[in-house]
Amino acid sequence: MKWHQAHTTWFFETFVLRPYLPDYKPFREEFRWLFNSYYNSLGEEVPEKHLRASLSRPSLDEVLAFRAHVDRAMETLFEGYIYDDAVRRILLGLNHEQQHQELMLTDIKHAFFSNPLRPAYDASSIVGGADSPAPDAVWHSFHGGVIELGYPIESANCLDFCFDNETPRHRVYLEAFRIASRSVTCREYLEFISDGAYARPEFWLSEGWEAVKKHGWRAPLYWERDATDSTGWRIFTLRGWHPLSVLLETPVCHVSFFEADAFARWRGCRLPTEAEWELAANGSSIHGNLLDAGRLHPAIASGDGLDQLFGDSWEWTASPYTGYPGYKPLPGALGEYNSKFMSGQMILRGGSCVTPASHIRATYRNFFPPATRWQFTGIRLAA
Ligand SMILES: [Fe+2]
Repeated sequence: MKWHQAHTTWFFETFVLRPYLPDYKPFREEFRWLFNSYYNSLGEEVPEKHLRASLSRPSLDEVLAFRAHVDRAMETLFEGYIYDDAVRRILLGLNHEQQHQELMLTDIKHAFFSNPLRPAYDASSIVGGADSPAPDAVWHSFHGGVIELGYPIESANCLDFCFDNETPRHRVYLEAFRIASRSVTCREYLEFISDGAYARPEFWLSEGWEAVKKHGWRAPLYWERDATDSTGWRIFTLRGWHPLSVLLETPVCHVSFFEADAFARWRGCRLPTEAEWELAANGSSIHGNLLDAGRLHPAIASGDGLDQLFGDSWEWTASPYTGYPGYKPLPGALGEYNSKFMSGQMILRGGSCVTPASHIRATYRNFFPPATRWQFTGIRLAA
């Protein structure tokens, strides 16, 4: 948590204050490289990623003092004239910080799961509500055709924000398709497990089958055998353990792309492409079980309209993460923010129960390597 706090502070110091505040005095010169995450073109050493969790120094007090120092300097900056480019970087810094707010919760969940005591982040209430069954999933049909994809950024307006990888807006041709009204539930995923799917290679991509064998996957991350529950399983959440029987109707989460893909194949369906997902989401307002709702876990769907597009769990798509036609990364080191990750990763859409509501939109492109499971990642079917 200390690293996240220092690194998001570093972002403002490095990309806003050093270039745009005259006479800015850095808090500590070593922080320039110590809290750099991955920007190689800044020209200095970047500490190995695994060290982030074990930096005993600087102390929390010093990191908080770094933050206060940068906050004061930002206020000084706001007193003067601010160039449009600085405004764009401040907006990027705020959005960057929101991404780290989400990462903090997913890291806390993983750290607490890795702790033998298995502590709860917030034990104040249960996440589930077994009181009502999820509505049946129904198909929503789209005609396809030529559609426009991507964020229509007003480049003259420095207050209009999206990430560079959401641009440029461009045309895509889609065949007719159907997309499910809601996410796949734990009950549906348990059927997949009970059908022996983790031991049946016919459902898996080659790399996925290798991952199943290598990691010994038998269920989503955070599922553990529990003979005392009727389902035989319990799930670790940010609110501690819950028997699977009380979460059966909630969306399954913490599955890899490979598991999402195998589940879809087992059901005779497929995952949506990101273009299909975005077309389906274009008409929806941004509401749902996002961080602001405070649940910290996916919730049961309601109704048979297109539901759960935003919030609950990020939805794996069948689309690899690449640049859109005509894509240009931001100039300079900030070009490394998104563009250098455009290999070997898959697109996810829609945000999760730990994504801030003001952070997500229909054109938002998240991306992770296909074996990733520690994020709140789930499944929506298409056909
Ligand atoms: Fe970062």
